[in-house]
Amino acid sequence: MKHDLLTFSDWSQQDLSALLELALKVKNTPADYEQALRGKSLVALFEKPSLRTRVSFDIGIHKLGGHMVYLDSQSGNLSGREDVLDMGANLACWADAIIARVYSHQTLSALARAAKVPVINALCDLYHPCQALADYLSLTERFGDLTGLPLCYVGDGNNVSHSLMLVGAILGADVRVVTPPGYEPDEAMVTKARQLAAENGGTILVSNDLEAAEGCKALYTDTWLSMGDETPLEQIKTLFMPYQLNMPLLRKSGASAVMHCQPAHRDLEITSELIDSEYSLLFLQAENRMHAQNAILISLLS
Ligand code: CP
Ligand code: NVA
Repeated sequence: MKHDLLTFSDWSQQDLSALLELALKVKNTPADYEQALRGKSLVALFEKPSLRTRVSFDIGIHKLGGHMVYLDSQSGNLSGREDVLDMGANLACWADAIIARVYSHQTLSALARAAKVPVINALCDLYHPCQALADYLSLTERFGDLTGLPLCYVGDGNNVSHSLMLVGAILGADVRVVTPPGYEPDEAMVTKARQLAAENGGTILVSNDLEAAEGCKALYTDTWLSMGDETPLEQIKTLFMPYQLNMPLLRKSGASAVMHCQPAHRDLEITSELIDSEYSLLFLQAENRMHAQNAILISLLS
């Protein structure tokens, strides 16, 4: 039976930990995996722009001996020329897997239903699972055991915050999400993350109060306006500015690492000073996108 990777919420702690271990092996002994995707062709379908996801999948697949075809649907949504179900069924005639970045999670569900090959979520409105795996890989490398590791996401309660909560809950981490009032993560995601945390020994805290960051090992942020959100920055900037990741917040929290999935907006959600500091894990996270995704591909395709 084919396995899709749409959210990670259906993975066990054991399987997710094994996937992180595989990612570390792929990173540290790349020669062992040079043929892992030999003869495999993957399609990458992007409705939204990308730098890291597109390039890390393309180069990563090449390093595993496979081949990626990039389909640019950025100018319109997927159902413009034909129904997404037909597109998924057609792509599965040639491709061994479909990687898709879409506006709506429903598009991914439709692709996954229609395609007889694995579908991998490369970001949607609700989740960014590949990012979260790379982030926990980075945290493992920096801090070791993830059990009870306190991590605080500060900013907009968006797709990145959802996947951090869900994956962190399964891995048994202590995930805190601090947002301005009105920008909390989706309630259904918080409920699911709390359920997964209860089953796996993690904790989930959602707050509007930056005091929640105190005692955390790492602070994480993301853009205040996600792709497709046309809200003028000036309309939200005053509300979000107190939630900026900056040196005073880092010092007050006691954290020793800062994280951001990027693209980052310097001196908005995070200061340039922190991005360029010794605390920054940003480029480790970016590098680990490739290793984490390669582990996902090996696990789903072999
Ligand atoms: N973090 C991330 O997904 O970056 P891109 O949007 O550039 O792919
Ligand atoms: N929340 C951001 C993440 C970009 C990688 C967005 O969806 O645009």
